[in-house]
Amino acid sequence: MTRDRDPIVGSFHVICILVFISGSLIQSSDVLEPAVDYSNRNLTHVPKDLTPRTKALNLSQNSIQELQMSDVSMLPELRALRLSHNRIQRLNFGVFKFNPKLEYLDVSNNHLRNISCCPVVSLKHLDLSFNDFDVLPMCKEFGNLTRLSFLGLSATKFRHLDLLPIAHLHLNYILLGLVGYHVKDGETESLQVLNTKALHLIFHPNSLFSVQVNISVNALGCLQLSNIKLNDGNCQRLTTFLLELTRGPTLLNLTLYHVETTWKCLVELLQFLWPRPVEYLNIYNLTITESINYENFTYSETVLKALTIEHITNQVFIFSKEALYSLFAEMNIRMLTITDTPFIHMLCPLLPSTFVFLNFTQNVFTDSVFQDCSTLKRLNTLILQKNGLKNLFKVALMTENMASLETLDVSLNSLDSHAYEKTCSWAESILVLNLSSNMLTGSVFRCLPPKVKVLDLHNNRIMSIPQKLIALEALQELDVASNSLMDLPGCGAFSSLSVLVIEHNSVSHPSADFFQSCQKIRSIRAGNNPFRCTCELREFVKNIGQVSEVVEGWPDSYTCDSPESAKGTPLQDFHMSPLSCETVLLIVTIGATLLVLAIIVAFLCHCFDLPWYLRMMCQWAQTRHRARNIPIEELQRNFQFHAFVSYSEHDSTWVKNELIPNLEKDDIRVCLHERNFIPGKSIVENIIHFIEKSYKSIFVLSPHFIQSEWCHYELYFAHHNLFHEGSDNLILILLEPIPQDNIPSRYHKLRALMAQRTYLEWPTEKSKHGLFWANLRASFITKLALVHEGDVKT
Ligand SMILES: *[C@@H]1O[C@H](CO)[C@@H](O)[C@H](O)[C@H]1NC(C)=O
Repeated sequence: MTRDRDPIVGSFHVICILVFISGSLIQSSDVLEPAVDYSNRNLTHVPKDLTPRTKALNLSQNSIQELQMSDVSMLPELRALRLSHNRIQRLNFGVFKFNPKLEYLDVSNNHLRNISCCPVVSLKHLDLSFNDFDVLPMCKEFGNLTRLSFLGLSATKFRHLDLLPIAHLHLNYILLGLVGYHVKDGETESLQVLNTKALHLIFHPNSLFSVQVNISVNALGCLQLSNIKLNDGNCQRLTTFLLELTRGPTLLNLTLYHVETTWKCLVELLQFLWPRPVEYLNIYNLTITESINYENFTYSETVLKALTIEHITNQVFIFSKEALYSLFAEMNIRMLTITDTPFIHMLCPLLPSTFVFLNFTQNVFTDSVFQDCSTLKRLNTLILQKNGLKNLFKVALMTENMASLETLDVSLNSLDSHAYEKTCSWAESILVLNLSSNMLTGSVFRCLPPKVKVLDLHNNRIMSIPQKLIALEALQELDVASNSLMDLPGCGAFSSLSVLVIEHNSVSHPSADFFQSCQKIRSIRAGNNPFRCTCELREFVKNIGQVSEVVEGWPDSYTCDSPESAKGTPLQDFHMSPLSCETVLLIVTIGATLLVLAIIVAFLCHCFDLPWYLRMMCQWAQTRHRARNIPIEELQRNFQFHAFVSYSEHDSTWVKNELIPNLEKDDIRVCLHERNFIPGKSIVENIIHFIEKSYKSIFVLSPHFIQSEWCHYELYFAHHNLFHEGSDNLILILLEPIPQDNIPSRYHKLRALMAQRTYLEWPTEKSKHGLFWANLRASFITKLALVHEGDVKT
């Protein structure tokens, strides 16, 4: 999420960061490869085994006492050399004669007392600070260092023109270590530092401020002072010291690091700086000692735009809060930052305030801050990050009269949103609201500024976005990451939503219609949710695939969490067959398959008479089964024939041409009356005799059969025999269909047989004949021993 900061704050940062970077010249490593790091190795000498290609060499924090030409002369490529925190006492710049590319040299924190000069014209960064120099180490040749940008020096005493040799150089940064400085009775020294953009003075960390040097610099842009210890007694010393440095005419960034002072002296210092040309005043690490009482302060005309105080330690325990807070509250400046302090409150300004930007990050402010405050009319940005705010309703109420408020950051508090009955009275002007890292639940959506464009609610306790909520028509960016949401919000209430962050929630099967509902979305970040990879997710994955350019983190941070079998699978690779997912499709498919089967069966029935085949197969199987179950010894009777055939004279052609040859081919002995009947015996006797001597009786049924009396007799006897024997010795072949009605009623036996017994139908198609014969032959046990006619006893 981007947001335009106040342009003034922006430019301020640029100035000081630029000065710092160019000043310290800590070059990007690729320029300085190969770099060799020998820091903190207890070395007493520069190692000899260095590769000649070395560009950067770090020898800091060792015990090196001396630097000789032979130490570095074989390193022609050397560009950066760090020797800080060693024990070097003398440095002859002549040793760098063979290092024409040396740009960065740090010999700070050694025991240097003297330097011998010899120009190293390539130097951009030279740090000689924190050594044992008595006076500033300077030689005429430094005037030739035309590329010099950073210069670090230290001394215990100053002479006005010490820095004259470099007066014509345009430096970016001068660091002046004044740790060893001590006052010479009553006498004020002076030093002219002619040209530098930034000057950093470091005083002794534990001594009261006592420096009496009149330092004057031309066009100083940035002044930094470290280690300032003040009490009511020496307070004047600092203001006197600053008098010359802050003379102007240019506008100054003044930064104080590690300040220990009484409240009275701090107020005095601020009062001194108020009419000075200081635009940005920063105090980092401030300790207030002794007491805090009400001090008079005149808020005169000032060019000061921003006061920043970071990290206050208050050593005063009993004091008037009013005295402390009112000093800041009434300031006639645009930007005030007070962070990381034990402050529990800030007063509402009494008069219409000039504050545009207030940053109170990391204090212990409570909900009562700025309640009923109507003087902050120009306030545009209010940051109350990391405080003790608890009640969202009161935070809304606080903004009620801040008519220009656009950005409010109350992240990292303990805000919760109980169901408030009353409506929240937010300032309508709020466009950016940061409510992240609180304890808010879904009901927060009932208490939001109506015109908010950017809303950060990440890291709260939202489980769902309520259906009935105030429509946030202007909302463009919504961050609800790290909550417990189960689904993506629809854009019904957020018609302008273009950026949605919803990663790290509990979204398992997001609604697929999100992209339809949110037409204006141009970025969605929904990774790291426990996606449930089932049928319901398919549509969503498909939709994501179509708009993957707006889906941040796709496909890497989108993986299945359940079911167990799919855990860890990237959503991109998750596929489910449409069949397993759609019931309708499944039913249709099964229906269609069944229909096709039915059609095939019908077709087969129609073209190949399938039912006939099935019936025949069935009979054949039954016959085989029955035949197998009849014990052979039971059949060991005196059979002369396998089969007795009864037929009408009209069907004799078929019997002789088809039936007989086909049976006899398989060694089935057939009895025909005209062939085997014994002359002299009556026909009836013959019939009875041969039926008894035959294992089976075959009847060839046809309309003609019915007409024949004899045939009926034969059937009668055979049937009679059947019941006697209890065995299955009757085979009916239906040669031509006989309509049931045609069977005369007196032949009730035939009727009954036709009705109850299965018969073999003679198929008209030639192709079916094979099966017919096979079926018929299966009824016979050919290995049945037969007796011959001669052996027969009558
Ligand atoms: C909200 O504040 C948090 C930190 O408290 C920060 O990380 C986040 O970027 C802020 N959101 C916006 C929209 O500025």
